[in-house]
Amino acid sequence: MTPSITLLRPSLDWLPAYEDALVAGWSPNTDQDVSRDQLLQLRRNPRRFLDDLYHSPTLRLPDGREVRRLPAHDFWISDGDFCGRIGFRYQPGTEDLPPSAMGHVGYTIVPWKQRRGYATQALRLILPVARAEGFRRVLLTCDDDNEASQKVILANGGVADGQVPHPGRPGHVKLAFWVPTIPV
Ligand SMILES: CC(C)(COP(=O)(O)OP(=O)(O)OC[C@H]1O[C@@H](n2cnc3c(N)ncnc32)[C@H](O)[C@@H]1OP(=O)(O)O)[C@@H](O)C(=O)NCCC(=O)NCCS
Repeated sequence: MTPSITLLRPSLDWLPAYEDALVAGWSPNTDQDVSRDQLLQLRRNPRRFLDDLYHSPTLRLPDGREVRRLPAHDFWISDGDFCGRIGFRYQPGTEDLPPSAMGHVGYTIVPWKQRRGYATQALRLILPVARAEGFRRVLLTCDDDNEASQKVILANGGVADGQVPHPGRPGHVKLAFWVPTIPV
Protein backbone atom coordinates (compact mmCIF):
# COMPACT_ATOMS: atom_id res chain seq x y z
CA MET A 1 0.00 0.00 0.00
CA THR A 2 1.20 3.54 -0.80
CA PRO A 3 2.21 5.41 2.37
CA SER A 4 0.03 8.46 2.86
CA ILE A 5 1.10 12.04 2.81
CA THR A 6 -0.22 15.26 4.27
CA LEU A 7 -0.08 18.81 2.97
CA LEU A 8 1.44 21.25 5.46
CA ARG A 9 1.46 25.02 5.42
CA PRO A 10 5.10 26.13 5.02
CA SER A 11 6.46 26.97 8.48
CA LEU A 12 9.63 27.80 10.35
CA ASP A 13 9.26 24.43 12.13
CA TRP A 14 9.72 22.60 8.83
CA LEU A 15 12.30 24.98 7.39
CA PRO A 16 15.31 22.89 8.54
CA ALA A 17 13.90 19.95 6.57
CA TYR A 18 13.38 22.21 3.54
CA GLU A 19 16.99 23.40 3.99
CA ASP A 20 18.26 19.79 4.09
CA ALA A 21 16.50 19.13 0.78
CA LEU A 22 18.17 22.18 -0.79
CA VAL A 23 21.55 21.02 0.54
CA ALA A 24 20.94 17.67 -1.11
CA GLY A 25 20.51 19.51 -4.41
CA TRP A 26 16.72 19.59 -4.72
CA SER A 27 15.36 22.57 -6.64
CA PRO A 28 11.78 23.48 -5.71
CA ASN A 29 11.43 25.32 -9.00
CA THR A 30 11.28 23.09 -12.08
CA ASP A 31 12.12 25.75 -14.65
CA GLN A 32 15.46 26.75 -13.13
CA ASP A 33 17.80 25.46 -10.44
CA VAL A 34 17.20 27.74 -7.48
CA SER A 35 18.66 25.56 -4.71
CA ARG A 36 21.94 27.49 -4.26
CA ASP A 37 20.27 30.87 -4.31
CA GLN A 38 17.55 29.80 -1.89
CA LEU A 39 20.11 28.30 0.50
CA LEU A 40 22.00 31.59 0.67
CA GLN A 41 18.85 33.54 1.43
CA LEU A 42 17.50 30.97 3.89
CA ARG A 43 20.72 31.00 5.90
CA ARG A 44 20.92 34.78 5.90
CA ASN A 45 17.49 35.22 7.47
CA PRO A 46 15.17 32.19 7.78
CA ARG A 47 12.04 34.09 8.76
CA ARG A 48 12.44 36.62 5.97
CA PHE A 49 13.25 33.87 3.46
CA LEU A 50 10.03 32.05 4.26
CA ASP A 51 8.01 35.21 4.11
CA ASP A 52 9.54 36.26 0.76
CA LEU A 53 9.14 32.76 -0.67
CA TYR A 54 5.38 32.78 -0.31
CA HIS A 55 4.30 36.36 0.36
CA SER A 56 6.50 38.76 -1.58
CA PRO A 57 4.29 41.04 -3.73
CA THR A 58 6.25 40.17 -6.89
CA LEU A 59 8.05 37.14 -8.35
CA ARG A 60 11.13 37.02 -10.55
CA LEU A 61 10.72 34.79 -13.62
CA PRO A 62 13.60 32.71 -15.07
CA ASP A 63 14.00 35.38 -17.79
CA GLY A 64 14.53 38.07 -15.12
CA ARG A 65 11.14 39.75 -15.48
CA GLU A 66 9.28 40.68 -12.30
CA VAL A 67 5.58 39.88 -12.21
CA ARG A 68 2.96 40.34 -9.53
CA ARG A 69 2.36 37.32 -7.31
CA LEU A 70 -1.04 35.71 -7.78
CA PRO A 71 -3.14 34.66 -4.80
CA ALA A 72 -2.03 31.14 -3.91
CA HIS A 73 -2.30 28.23 -1.52
CA ASP A 74 1.15 26.75 -1.03
CA PHE A 75 1.94 23.54 0.80
CA TRP A 76 4.84 21.36 1.72
CA ILE A 77 4.34 17.63 1.37
CA SER A 78 5.16 15.30 4.25
CA ASP A 79 5.08 11.58 4.91
CA GLY A 80 6.68 12.30 8.27
CA ASP A 81 9.73 13.61 6.42
CA PHE A 82 9.85 16.52 4.01
CA CYS A 83 8.87 15.26 0.53
CA GLY A 84 8.39 18.31 -1.69
CA ARG A 85 6.00 21.11 -2.48
CA ILE A 86 2.72 21.78 -4.25
CA GLY A 87 0.90 25.02 -4.88
CA PHE A 88 -2.36 26.30 -6.37
CA ARG A 89 -2.35 29.85 -7.75
CA TYR A 90 -5.23 31.63 -9.34
CA GLN A 91 -6.95 34.83 -10.32
CA PRO A 92 -10.16 35.16 -8.29
CA GLY A 93 -13.35 34.77 -10.31
CA THR A 94 -11.78 33.52 -13.55
CA GLU A 95 -10.10 30.41 -14.95
CA ASP A 96 -7.79 32.70 -16.91
CA LEU A 97 -4.17 33.05 -15.91
CA PRO A 98 -1.64 35.69 -16.93
CA PRO A 99 0.86 34.56 -19.60
CA SER A 100 3.59 34.23 -16.95
CA ALA A 101 1.67 31.42 -15.17
CA MET A 102 1.64 28.16 -17.13
CA GLY A 103 -1.00 26.51 -14.96
CA HIS A 104 -2.91 26.65 -11.69
CA VAL A 105 -1.02 23.87 -9.95
CA GLY A 106 2.70 23.13 -9.73
CA TYR A 107 4.50 20.44 -7.75
CA THR A 108 7.91 18.90 -7.16
CA ILE A 109 8.83 15.82 -5.17
CA VAL A 110 12.38 15.49 -3.81
CA PRO A 111 14.22 12.82 -5.84
CA TRP A 112 14.60 10.41 -2.90
CA LYS A 113 10.82 10.33 -2.32
CA GLN A 114 9.76 9.90 -5.94
CA ARG A 115 7.88 6.91 -7.41
CA ARG A 116 5.85 6.33 -4.25
CA GLY A 117 2.62 7.88 -5.51
CA TYR A 118 3.20 11.11 -3.58
CA ALA A 119 2.69 13.59 -6.42
CA THR A 120 -0.49 11.75 -7.44
CA GLN A 121 -1.78 11.99 -3.87
CA ALA A 122 -0.69 15.61 -3.44
CA LEU A 123 -2.56 16.71 -6.55
CA ARG A 124 -5.66 14.84 -5.34
CA LEU A 125 -5.38 16.58 -1.95
CA ILE A 126 -5.05 20.09 -3.37
CA LEU A 127 -8.08 19.82 -5.68
CA PRO A 128 -10.60 20.53 -2.86
CA VAL A 129 -8.59 23.66 -2.04
CA ALA A 130 -9.17 24.88 -5.60
CA ARG A 131 -12.79 23.80 -5.38
CA ALA A 132 -13.23 25.88 -2.22
CA GLU A 133 -11.98 28.91 -4.17
CA GLY A 134 -14.78 28.34 -6.70
CA PHE A 135 -12.88 26.37 -9.36
CA ARG A 136 -14.66 23.44 -11.00
CA ARG A 137 -11.45 22.53 -12.83
CA VAL A 138 -7.80 23.59 -12.85
CA LEU A 139 -5.28 23.93 -15.66
CA LEU A 140 -2.00 22.05 -15.47
CA THR A 141 0.81 22.00 -17.99
CA CYS A 142 3.86 19.80 -18.18
CA ASP A 143 6.76 19.25 -20.56
CA ASP A 144 6.00 16.88 -23.43
CA ASP A 145 8.74 14.53 -22.20
CA ASN A 146 7.69 14.58 -18.52
CA GLU A 147 6.05 11.18 -18.47
CA ALA A 148 5.78 11.08 -14.68
CA SER A 149 3.89 14.37 -14.46
CA GLN A 150 1.56 13.35 -17.29
CA LYS A 151 0.73 10.18 -15.34
CA VAL A 152 0.09 12.19 -12.18
CA ILE A 153 -2.33 14.44 -14.07
CA LEU A 154 -4.11 11.62 -15.89
CA ALA A 155 -4.49 9.65 -12.64
CA ASN A 156 -6.41 12.64 -11.30
CA GLY A 157 -8.82 12.75 -14.21
CA GLY A 158 -6.88 15.19 -16.40
CA VAL A 159 -8.33 15.88 -19.83
CA ALA A 160 -5.86 16.90 -22.54
CA ASP A 161 -6.39 20.36 -24.01
CA GLY A 162 -3.71 20.86 -26.61
CA GLN A 163 -0.26 22.28 -26.21
CA VAL A 164 1.54 25.56 -25.93
CA PRO A 165 5.07 26.50 -27.00
CA HIS A 166 7.66 25.80 -24.33
CA PRO A 167 8.98 29.10 -22.96
CA GLY A 168 12.43 27.73 -22.13
CA ARG A 169 13.15 24.59 -24.16
CA PRO A 170 13.34 25.05 -27.92
CA GLY A 171 11.90 22.05 -29.75
CA HIS A 172 9.61 21.12 -26.85
CA VAL A 173 6.03 22.00 -25.99
CA LYS A 174 4.05 22.14 -22.80
CA LEU A 175 1.04 19.82 -22.79
CA ALA A 176 -2.08 21.32 -21.25
CA PHE A 177 -4.68 19.45 -19.20
CA TRP A 178 -7.82 20.39 -17.30
CA VAL A 179 -8.30 18.49 -14.07
CA PRO A 180 -11.79 18.46 -12.50
CA THR A 181 -11.83 19.44 -8.84
CA ILE A 182 -14.53 16.89 -8.07
CA PRO A 183 -13.29 13.30 -8.42
CA VAL A 184 -14.60 11.65 -11.60
C1 LIG B 1 6.87 14.60 -11.77
C2 LIG B 1 7.02 14.25 -10.30
C3 LIG B 1 6.38 15.35 -9.45
C4 LIG B 1 6.33 12.91 -10.03
O1 LIG B 1 6.40 12.68 -8.63
P1 LIG B 1 6.20 11.23 -8.03
O2 LIG B 1 5.81 11.39 -6.59
O3 LIG B 1 7.39 10.40 -8.32
O4 LIG B 1 4.97 10.69 -8.87
P2 LIG B 1 4.10 9.40 -8.51
O5 LIG B 1 4.89 8.52 -7.61
O6 LIG B 1 2.77 9.87 -8.07
O7 LIG B 1 4.06 8.68 -9.92
C5 LIG B 1 3.09 8.89 -10.89
C6 LIG B 1 3.37 7.93 -12.04
O8 LIG B 1 4.56 8.35 -12.72
C7 LIG B 1 5.48 7.28 -12.76
N1 LIG B 1 6.81 7.84 -12.67
C8 LIG B 1 7.36 8.45 -11.58
N2 LIG B 1 8.60 8.87 -11.88
C9 LIG B 1 8.81 8.51 -13.18
C10 LIG B 1 9.89 8.68 -14.05
N3 LIG B 1 11.02 9.29 -13.67
N4 LIG B 1 9.78 8.19 -15.30
C11 LIG B 1 8.65 7.58 -15.71
N5 LIG B 1 7.57 7.40 -14.94
C12 LIG B 1 7.66 7.86 -13.67
C13 LIG B 1 5.13 6.42 -11.58
O9 LIG B 1 5.60 5.10 -11.76
C14 LIG B 1 3.65 6.50 -11.62
O10 LIG B 1 3.14 5.67 -12.65
P3 LIG B 1 1.92 4.70 -12.42
O11 LIG B 1 0.75 5.61 -12.10
O12 LIG B 1 1.79 4.01 -13.72
O13 LIG B 1 2.29 3.84 -11.27
C15 LIG B 1 8.51 14.11 -9.91
O14 LIG B 1 9.14 13.24 -10.80
C16 LIG B 1 9.25 15.44 -9.87
O15 LIG B 1 9.23 16.14 -8.87
N6 LIG B 1 9.88 15.76 -11.00
C17 LIG B 1 10.61 17.02 -11.13
C18 LIG B 1 9.67 18.21 -11.08
C19 LIG B 1 8.52 18.11 -12.05
O16 LIG B 1 8.66 17.61 -13.15
N7 LIG B 1 7.37 18.64 -11.62
C20 LIG B 1 6.17 18.68 -12.43
C21 LIG B 1 6.21 19.82 -13.36
S1 LIG B 1 4.77 19.80 -14.40
